[in-house]
Amino acid sequence: MSINRPVNIGLIGAGRIGSFHAQSVARRLVDANLVAIADPAPGAAEKLAAELGAPNAYTSLSELLANRDIEGVVIATPARFHTNIVVEAAEAGKAVFCEKPMALTLEDADRAIAAARAGKVPLQVGFNRRWDQAFAEGRAAIDDGKIGSPQLIRSLTRDPGPFDADPAKIPQWTIFYETLIHDFDTLLWLNPGAKPVEVTAVADALVRPDFADKGFHDTAVVTVRFDNGSIAVAEANFCAMYGYDIRGEVFGSGGMVTMGDVRRSSMTLFDKNGVSNDTWRRDTDHFVHGYTAQLAAFVEAIRTGEVTGPTGEDARNALAIALACVGSVSERKTVKLIN
Ligand SMILES: NC(=O)c1ccc[n+]([C@@H]2O[C@H](COP(=O)([O-])OP(=O)(O)OC[C@H]3O[C@@H](n4cnc5c(N)ncnc54)[C@H](O)[C@@H]3O)[C@@H](O)[C@H]2O)c1
Repeated sequence: MSINRPVNIGLIGAGRIGSFHAQSVARRLVDANLVAIADPAPGAAEKLAAELGAPNAYTSLSELLANRDIEGVVIATPARFHTNIVVEAAEAGKAVFCEKPMALTLEDADRAIAAARAGKVPLQVGFNRRWDQAFAEGRAAIDDGKIGSPQLIRSLTRDPGPFDADPAKIPQWTIFYETLIHDFDTLLWLNPGAKPVEVTAVADALVRPDFADKGFHDTAVVTVRFDNGSIAVAEANFCAMYGYDIRGEVFGSGGMVTMGDVRRSSMTLFDKNGVSNDTWRRDTDHFVHGYTAQLAAFVEAIRTGEVTGPTGEDARNALAIALACVGSVSERKTVKLIN
């Protein structure tokens, strides 16, 4: 049975992306109410709730989950907390939207998927690129057979520079678990039905070579072979001085689709210095539509009980590639995936 009224959402984790998602729920979605925010950092939930007019702010997760008005939760805490919160939320009967990565081990991914199934609640994960106009149209062209069968697939993430984070505070393997996980989902999603069979990854610290001997990686290239014969490449770097550069490409037997453009728009400036374009500088600018559309899809999943966006299984499939990358870099070898 479909719900025919605005649905009530609670945000868990009021940091950078959580605040943006809360704004989307409160200000950009007409059919959702932001009814509560939970964050253990003193004052964080309260401050954001006051800004957005959300009636409840908590420092504990259990208080939020005990709120019977809440029908779905948006989880935007640091990655290591995701699985346990997915499980607790599902056990409390709340629909779950979880930022990527949903889990850091396959066992945890299975635990999250099982909890959602047992609780009979929708579980959607934050692979927002699927809603970007160019990527959505690329996938549609592939589905329509316009490029034939995929042979070469490419996805890349270059985060905007300058890189000013402290590498000592970034958990090891973040480039695979939190950055390239988007690209792994993209490669899988643009190659419908194919299964990855082999992963080879190389990674280094080229932006901050002074942290190379501490296991920090800011640059990586990954090749993935699929069971339909196609070969894919994903790459990432934490410091593109020209902007936030997200692109994809699928080359097939009958043609090619390319997706993504670092230029903000088609406005091109011609002046005494020559010809120039502004570029995207932040994920929340580039993907404002994608981030909002994924939450609109989550609201729809709450209404209908059916997830049309990326699922817990999709999160697990992308994670399997990330884990293979960790093995490949650690042991300097190609890792076979068991499907
Ligand atoms: N899809 C995307 O493009 C995208 C973009 C940015 C971040 N993310 C993901 O979102 C997650 C959060 O990233 P961020 O940059 O917003 O982090 P952040 O550090 O800015 O915010 C995390 C917040 O969670 C809070 N928190 C910690 N433990 C908590 C708990 N147990 N319950 C509730 N709140 C808790 C912290 O106090 C903090 O306010 C990460 O997994 C990250 O990979 C995804």
